[in-house]
Amino acid sequence: MSQKPKVIASVTLPPDLRERLAAACDIIEIPMGQRPDEVVSEETRAQITGMVCTMKTKVDAALLAALPALTVSSNFAVGFDNVDVPAATARKVLICNTPRVLDGAVADITIGLMLCLARNLVAGDAFVRSGAWTKGPFPLARDIRGKTLGLLGMGRIGRVVARTAQAFDMKVIYHNRREDPHAQGLATYVARDELFKASDVLSIHIPLAAETRHSVGKRELGLMKNSAYLINTARGPVVDEAALIEALRAGKIAGAGLDVMEQEPLPASSPLCELPNVVLQAHIGSATHETRRAMIELAVANLIDAVTGKQPEAMVNPEVWQGHA
Ligand code: GLV
Repeated sequence: MSQKPKVIASVTLPPDLRERLAAACDIIEIPMGQRPDEVVSEETRAQITGMVCTMKTKVDAALLAALPALTVSSNFAVGFDNVDVPAATARKVLICNTPRVLDGAVADITIGLMLCLARNLVAGDAFVRSGAWTKGPFPLARDIRGKTLGLLGMGRIGRVVARTAQAFDMKVIYHNRREDPHAQGLATYVARDELFKASDVLSIHIPLAAETRHSVGKRELGLMKNSAYLINTARGPVVDEAALIEALRAGKIAGAGLDVMEQEPLPASSPLCELPNVVLQAHIGSATHETRRAMIELAVANLIDAVTGKQPEAMVNPEVWQGHA
């Protein structure tokens, strides 16, 4: 009988990584997003010690209870709002994620959305394709140079955005739960309300948690300049979308660039799709060949390390590994 640890993979594995994982573990592959408690037999579930999955798998208390031998769940994402971390910690299940390797890609999309909004690039493309250019020039847009970029959240991604914005001669301010010593020379710490009031572009870089859900709502949007843009590449539910739609319709802010929404995939019937001052993307912050490869490599390495007794690189609840949980 095989002595290898049994793991579930609810993610598409590149062949070389499947081979690497198979050398260390017995893999049970299930379709992405399917709950193991629905598609794997109870007998097999009882032997599962590890899992690698995407944000589509809700690692909740019920799933954790259905995998009684689980010691690690490795998220193929930096975010882990799909995981009930306190429930995992209580069961001594280590949660891993994929930080660092996607910082540049998400920062690039943030800057891209900012340029699309300020320079009206999406409308500009339609303007040329439709032949409207032959009848007159495209309306003037706005500079981002010399403007103030406000970052709500100053973690790894926020810092890369700040560094990149400096190349555009932007003044960068930020608000975080606490001042970040790594932000020195990159961005100036301001109070939360001041961030919303002073920013020409306000970009969100905080995780989704109970405390941050709808934390950017009517009040915050009301503090912003009428000429300001809101960018969200973090998680949709951090913003109260109904309040945002109202603010955009009423011209309380000038526009929004959204890579994430409250409902994903966003249906075409969403009012967001009708607003001309919104640029939408399909949650593609990390969606490049290079970045996704780096993420899946890290997610698989985290899983192999954890089930073979080596400390994984990226742990969400390290107290489990350290035996303090
Ligand atoms: C993407 O949204 C991620 O959390 O990696």
